[in-house]
This record gives sequence, C-alpha cells and structure tokens, in this order.
Amino acid sequence: MEYRNLGKSDLKVSVIGLGAWQAGAKGWGKIVDSDVKSAILTSIEMGLNFIDTAEVYGDGHSESVIGEVIKDNRDDIVIATKASGNHLKPEYLERALEGSLKRLNTNYIDLYQLHWPDIYTSLKETMKTLERMANNGKIRYIGLSNFSVCQIEEARSYLSNMDIVSNQVRYNILQREIEEEMLPYLTKEKISVIAYSPLAQGLLTFKYDHANLEASDVRKNNKLFTEPNIRMIASFLSVLKDISLETGHSVVQLALNWLISRDNVIPIPGAKNRDQATINLQSNGWRLSQEQIKRIEDKYQEIKDKLDTF
Ligand SMILES: NC(=O)c1ccc[n+]([C@@H]2O[C@H](COP(=O)([O-])OP(=O)(O)OC[C@H]3O[C@@H](n4cnc5c(N)ncnc54)[C@H](OP(=O)(O)O)[C@@H]3O)[C@@H](O)[C@H]2O)c1
Repeated sequence: MEYRNLGKSDLKVSVIGLGAWQAGAKGWGKIVDSDVKSAILTSIEMGLNFIDTAEVYGDGHSESVIGEVIKDNRDDIVIATKASGNHLKPEYLERALEGSLKRLNTNYIDLYQLHWPDIYTSLKETMKTLERMANNGKIRYIGLSNFSVCQIEEARSYLSNMDIVSNQVRYNILQREIEEEMLPYLTKEKISVIAYSPLAQGLLTFKYDHANLEASDVRKNNKLFTEPNIRMIASFLSVLKDISLETGHSVVQLALNWLISRDNVIPIPGAKNRDQATINLQSNGWRLSQEQIKRIEDKYQEIKDKLDTF
C-alpha cells in the first residue's frame, strides 16, 4: 500500500481511503452491516488506514459501525469524521464532537472536518472552537469540506498556531471542476485534496442508468445519471474499457489510479462490501502510462463541454 502525508502534517494515510457514507445504510440501496464491516476489515488487512465518515451518515449509524469494527486497533486507524454545516456554532460543534466520539468509541478524532460551510455562523468562532478542541487533545487535525478557496483562506486566517490539512471535495475523472482554481491552490499550499465521489457515485462501474435507480437512492438527484449524460459518457468510458483490456486493471481501478497520479489527492471510494473494497484498493502500486493518460485526456476534452454535471 502506498501512503502519503495528510497536508503538511507527518501523519501518513493510505493513498486510498474508505468512504463510509454507505455504512450509514441509508440512500444507497440495500446495505447490510455485516457486509460493510467485512469491507472495513478487509481494507485494513490490505493496508488501508484512513476511513472517512460523518455524523450525518445514517444519522450516526456509520460512525457506530466503524467504532465497533476498529475498537481493537483504534490507534492504527486514522479516523476522519465531519460536523454538519448546521452544527458550526461553538455550542453545537462541542455537542457534535461529543456525539461522534461516543459513537466512534474513542476519545480523539484524527481529522475533524466541517462538512459544509454555513454563512449564518461566524467562521471565526467555529475555527477558534476547533483550535481549542485540538489544544485539548480531542481532535488531532482540522479539515474542511466543500469550502471555496476564498472560504478556506478566511478559515485559515483565524487559526493561531495550526493550519488545516485538507479540503474534501468532489473530484473524479468526469467531474473536474476543482482543477481550475481549487486544485492548484491546495497543491501550492500543501493541503490535501480528499476526493469524494471518486467513482462518480458508481457511474464509472457501468451498472447504472437513471431508470434503474430507486426513488430513495441519493443518485436519483445526481444530474450525472440523466439519460443525455449517460449517452455522452459512454464514448468516454469506451476509451477506459480499451485501456482496461490492455492493462488488466478494471475501469474502476483506472479511475482511482488516475486520481492518485496527482500527488496530493486522496480518493475515498465508498464500498458496501468486501469485494468492492478489494477491487478499489488494488488501484495503487502501479501507474497509468503517459500515453494512456493522454488518450483519456483527449477523449475527455471532446466531451467535457457537453457534460452537465451539477
Ligand atoms: N464531503 C462531502 O460532502 C461528501 C459527499 C459525498 C461523499 N462523501 C464521502 O466520499 C465517499 C465516496 O463518495 P460517494 O459515496 O459519493 O461515491 P463513490 O465512492 O464515487 O461511489 C460509491 C458507490 O460506487 C459503487 N462501487 C464502489 N466500489 C465499487 C466497485 N469496486 N465495483 C463496483 N461498484 C463499486 C457502490 O455503489 P453500488 O454498489 O450501489 O453500485 C458505491 O456505493 C462517501 O462514502 C463519503 O465518505 C463526502
């Protein structure tokens, strides 16, 4: 397993993490706790040490499942969780952290992230509260999620003796909005990009179209899954399929490998079971060639302006 530093810290995390929204068992079709647990255990056996969750996933269920699975090797795992954007007022944030600690069955969080910004709460107060939590040893590092460059700059300006280590944002081979401003900024500042939806919520696995998603599935509202997009994406995926045949790596693995070929990006694919977790973790330890990357790039340039991804 390859590892990389989280931001400027000396904390090493596996280059591929595990996204645990699915462990919340809501909004992703049928999910069984025992399958998710074996996905976590298998991942750890394969060298993964980075798990991303949030208080909101399954209303705390995801955190509880993780807490149960890792109780015997807590200190070997880097736990990233998130406070919801509606919990950023100091007293709410304190309460949110206590809830996460309890469910995760631990007395510290490695990476505590703000899930999304809240323009109605003083960011200064929120950041000062986070810094206090770090000084008290309840959290080790601070991360943001879904913050713009401007908001990140503001957040950092309120920290006195530490810096944020990461911003968690959507990034995959099809949805590359962050490449214009966010990625160059985070790279320059040595802040890790934690890439969510690295498999475009499963679209890159060829299993889905809009018609076969249940009404309760979170992907039903994802524009990427609409008919015109899916048709457009098919030609792009055919290039990935060709490269997959040449290399023996599946399209899922190519998509994750494409992300880790960027030095400060850490994808966190969501896995529901052991098989998915195993496939995802086999995406490291090798690299796409420059020629393969160019073929992917050329095809992407052809379709990118026609894609409607929001
Ligand atoms: N900060 C934020 O606002 C935010 C937002 C979204 C996600 N996240 C985080 O990022 C993580 C990942 O993002 P995501 O869940 O949106 O999307 P994703 O990782 O792109 O897609 C996950 C889905 O892909 C399918 N899948 C995964 N591995 C597979 C494999 N090897 N073979 C076939 N299918 C596979 C599964 O769907 P099926 O089995 O159902 O097909 C799984 O539910 C989440 O778990 C969460 O931790 C954060």
